[in-house]
Amino acid sequence: MTREKPIRFAAVGAGRVFQRYHLPCVDARDDVELVGLVDADADRAASVAAGRPGVWTGTDVARLIREARPDALSVCTPNDAHAAPVLAALDAGIPVLCEKPLAATVDEARRMAEHPAAAELLAVNMPFRCHSLTAPFAEAAGKGAQRVEVSFVTPGNRVWRACTPWYGDARRAGGGALLDLGPHAIDLLMTVFGHPDVEACTVNAEGVEEQAELQLSFQGLPATIRIDRAARRMETAVTVTTADGAHVLDLRRNELRLADGTVRQGADRPELAAISAFFDAVTGAATGAAGAAGDGPAAGGAAGTSGADAAGAGATGVTGAGAVGAREALAVQLVVDEAYRRARGAAPAVT
Ligand SMILES: NC(=O)c1ccc[n+]([C@@H]2O[C@H](COP(=O)([O-])OP(=O)(O)OC[C@H]3O[C@@H](n4cnc5c(N)ncnc54)[C@H](O)[C@@H]3O)[C@@H](O)[C@H]2O)c1
Repeated sequence: MTREKPIRFAAVGAGRVFQRYHLPCVDARDDVELVGLVDADADRAASVAAGRPGVWTGTDVARLIREARPDALSVCTPNDAHAAPVLAALDAGIPVLCEKPLAATVDEARRMAEHPAAAELLAVNMPFRCHSLTAPFAEAAGKGAQRVEVSFVTPGNRVWRACTPWYGDARRAGGGALLDLGPHAIDLLMTVFGHPDVEACTVNAEGVEEQAELQLSFQGLPATIRIDRAARRMETAVTVTTADGAHVLDLRRNELRLADGTVRQGADRPELAAISAFFDAVTGAATGAAGAAGDGPAAGGAAGTSGADAAGAGATGVTGAGAVGAREALAVQLVVDEAYRRARGAAPAVT
């Protein structure tokens, strides 16, 4: 479907993730136009919008909604500042894409996911599910997975230069490397293998850890996620071992290496796939940069587990093109929360 007029898009939080991911995605399409930008730092909002005549900028989300009249909103603030603008958008009936993790705390994440409009209007930017290689990876993993290992290592703030220093603030971030990077890995594994039990977790510090190791069990399938946000190298890879050997989804190199030696390359700019899927859903575009997004829910069934449920449930409205919905993001956040409980030596939560 071709739109006569672009949809009116606005964002709250004009920092690194907005500038690196959301804005380029808008600029790559002619069916979405930026009409408003809010930031706690009014000067940052104004300077990021400079050269874009007519873009409303300021610090007040209610005024943004009233005066810029957006058809869709991204929330790109630090983790503790997701809930307020997301709830304001949902109250106003505006589709909203929230950055991951859903929130800094489980309580806030629940409030967002349980809003009556959340199932229809709230998506969360976790792009691995929308990755064009997730479905073929799930197909390979479906042939008798014996073990899963995720390695997520990065030099952290030496390569991702946030505009403000909130990542090291436990109250603002809600956690460290596990809450920051874990949701990407956990959502991908839940898409492919279904819902996990948390077996064990260790972190290298209380409050804001840089390293975490998480042991999960997907109906008896053991999975280990190792996260290091203070490493000297970069790697984001998921390895599943089957009787055929190791299949590696290398998200850093954007390739899938199957045990038989086949190598498949992924679609361009996979980090933008969930944002594109959100825009595809909001604009009604049938195809586009997120053409692969539809692979996500299909991937769930491929491993022959309840992954289809994890990925596909509630896939209506803004998640119709495969983006992660509020319920799925909350489920991921609960796994992270349980992992932190285990790391503190607490008894498993009663569910
Ligand atoms: N999906 C991904 O792959 C990905 C990658 C990086 C970051 N993120 C997420 O994006 C979010 C932002 O991270 P970042 O690296 O861009 O941080 P940042 O510090 O670069 O940007 C945050 C911006 O929000 C503004 N801000 C702070 N509080 C605000 C409030 N209450 N209202 C309005 N604006 C406010 C700050 O002034 C700043 O401009 C975080 O939730 C982070 O986890 C996601």
